[in-house]
Amino acid sequence: MAKSKIYICSACGASFSKWAGHCSNCGAWNTLIEDQPLSVGPPSQSLGSKPGKQILLSEITADDETSKRTPSGLVELDRVLGGGLVPASATLVGGDPGIGKSTLLLQAAAHFDAVGIKTLYVSGEEAITQIQMRAQRLNLKDACIQLAAETNLRDILTTAKMERPDLIIIDSIQTMWVDSIDSAPGSVSQVRTTAHHLTNYAKQQRTSVVLVGHVTKEGQIAGPRVIEHMVDTVLYFEGERGHQFRILRAVKNRFGPSDEIGVFEMTGHGLEEVVNPSALFLSERETTSPGSAIFAGIEGSRPILVEIQALVAPSPHGQPRRAVVGWDSSRLAMILAVLEARCGIAFAGLDVYLNVAGGLKITEPAADLAVAAALLSAREDKALPINMVIFGEISLSSALRPAPQTQNRLKEALKLGFSNVVAPTGSTAGSNLNINLTHCSDLTDFIRTLLTHD
Ligand code: TYD
Ligand code: MG
Repeated sequence: MAKSKIYICSACGASFSKWAGHCSNCGAWNTLIEDQPLSVGPPSQSLGSKPGKQILLSEITADDETSKRTPSGLVELDRVLGGGLVPASATLVGGDPGIGKSTLLLQAAAHFDAVGIKTLYVSGEEAITQIQMRAQRLNLKDACIQLAAETNLRDILTTAKMERPDLIIIDSIQTMWVDSIDSAPGSVSQVRTTAHHLTNYAKQQRTSVVLVGHVTKEGQIAGPRVIEHMVDTVLYFEGERGHQFRILRAVKNRFGPSDEIGVFEMTGHGLEEVVNPSALFLSERETTSPGSAIFAGIEGSRPILVEIQALVAPSPHGQPRRAVVGWDSSRLAMILAVLEARCGIAFAGLDVYLNVAGGLKITEPAADLAVAAALLSAREDKALPINMVIFGEISLSSALRPAPQTQNRLKEALKLGFSNVVAPTGSTAGSNLNINLTHCSDLTDFIRTLLTHD
């Protein structure tokens, strides 16, 4: 019987029976590649089968793994992991090439070493001397980390069984291969198979495994998304080129909250933790200028103030440009439409540029109101009051919805010297806060409030 072909998207892992130039799941172009289908024939008679082991839920007495987690001492990393490294867990750390994944993990390995976690750092990308040079730059040359420059998974697992480390770091999964598969390292089948073996090893041998995965835009090699479902925790390391800030974001965590972020700064001697991110994100802002609004946001469990910048200019094109960095472009389109349809403020014939300063990517709908404020301020060429922060979600009817954790947002604003807060009706502040809180019920009310402030 001829085997049917299957095609896998190397960016997201979706499978298709027909080739196409465009992945209908993730929208990437040119990422579908032929993959070996799993055997679908009847099981071999000679092998036979036996019933699987079962156990009653109430009879399981094993201790909760998460209670045995070990903090590394690198506070920003521990926060994102949900408190520390969980034994026998598999973690994926994804990110663009050159963003600092290897640097982060070498520093993490040194921290784990200091708290008694024996680490094996396997690099498939760099020679031992290169890792040593990096360690020297990071001032970690004396850390007791086992290093291996290896790509053959069988050899790695044999080494691991002999050395019995508590943590194995695989840098990167796209360089690893097993000889049972014909395709090249980095192909979807190699990446999935090696990740499968490593996660199995983690569970069976009670060793934590961290896999590094490069995000690939071209689709030549499989991206980390193809193995996201196999691991317990998925972290992405993000940052804008030209900015020193790096954000480690948990997008999936079986052992902790999934929306936590850790903030780092890349320096000449490695990554440094940023204890007060709001101060950092606002540090480049000296005076207020038209088009700038401060958003009091929440990332995971902590409040962060960020500057939202907008530029509105007459468009020379028939179809005006809408460019967004750090926010959702369809959300911007929605706010422009609400401003036009409900408040009569049109942006037709105007180019609109929106930027979240500092390279942060915001996903919270509560940023709507700050975006609207930045857009209005840019359009009218009028600066907002320097000590004002804004938050709230805008609905299609132009009504404003309160955002969660108001008290935390207000406290952070106050801590950084912002005493004027504009928020939706229903946002309540504790009476102990010395803050001027203005409530708005809808967008028209909000525009009126901005006008009366100057
Ligand atoms: P790296 O950790 O190699 O990135 P990845 O593993 O994600 O590909 O980081 C590479 C970049 O970080 C490189 O451009 C140099 C920079 N860097 C510093 O700025 N300071 C440092 O101390 C180190 C080690 C790297
Ligand atoms: Mg690297």
